[in-house]
Amino acid sequence: MSKKIPLIVLCSHRKHGNSKSACEKILQGMQKVNGDATVVSVCDYSIEHCIACNKCAVEPFVCVLNKNDDMPKFLQLIENASAIVFLSPIYFYALPARIKAIMDRSQPLWHKARNSTEYKKTEHENIEQKKAVFTFLYGGQEHGKKLFEGAKLSLHCFYNTLNLSLKDTILAYGIDNFDDLLKCEDLTEQLISLGERLWQAGECE
Ligand SMILES: Cc1cc2nc3c(=O)[nH]c(=O)nc-3n(C[C@H](O)[C@H](O)[C@H](O)COP(=O)(O)O)c2cc1C
Repeated sequence: MSKKIPLIVLCSHRKHGNSKSACEKILQGMQKVNGDATVVSVCDYSIEHCIACNKCAVEPFVCVLNKNDDMPKFLQLIENASAIVFLSPIYFYALPARIKAIMDRSQPLWHKARNSTEYKKTEHENIEQKKAVFTFLYGGQEHGKKLFEGAKLSLHCFYNTLNLSLKDTILAYGIDNFDDLLKCEDLTEQLISLGERLWQAGECE
């Protein structure tokens, strides 16, 4: 089996904006430690919306929509990654709709986890064995105490469902136009360093 490498998930609905710049900085950090990553954009995955039929609540905990779209492919990416980072802009104080659709479609895993004693053991006793995940959230606003609160809470539930352990979150205000991120030296340095840590977190897997 080939070696696992980190996964970078771009959650913006525009492909060449700040999430792309952030991704390039993270890759730059990785190259410093001879690392590499798989990069995906949620725009390239066709994901149907959860229809709340609740059929996934019972064994074998499978979504009825899985045969229609790319959700199994997306979950496979998570499974194959050594560590993960989600890069996401804020839309209306929340996560963009495409990543939210992916989160809603992870409901079968939520049910499975809830029903599995093995998972509960992992959750409470084996925390160090969880896969590492990092988050970078940013918005155009210069201020707003609660700007990231909704997104952070949703991601907390999502990461628990996927059995991921949050290592670090970077938050940035005032990132709006295409190249805003590249003008912030502090932030680009943080992202380069995140690239190094992402690779190292994956090596510990
Ligand atoms: C539909 C939509 C809603 C947005 N809502 C917010 C918001 O509530 N607060 C904020 O700070 N920025 C908001 N923004 C601005 C984006 O977060 C910002 O432009 C970001 O840099 C876009 O990231 P990208 O370049 O990776 O696409 C919104 C943008 C869009 C398209």
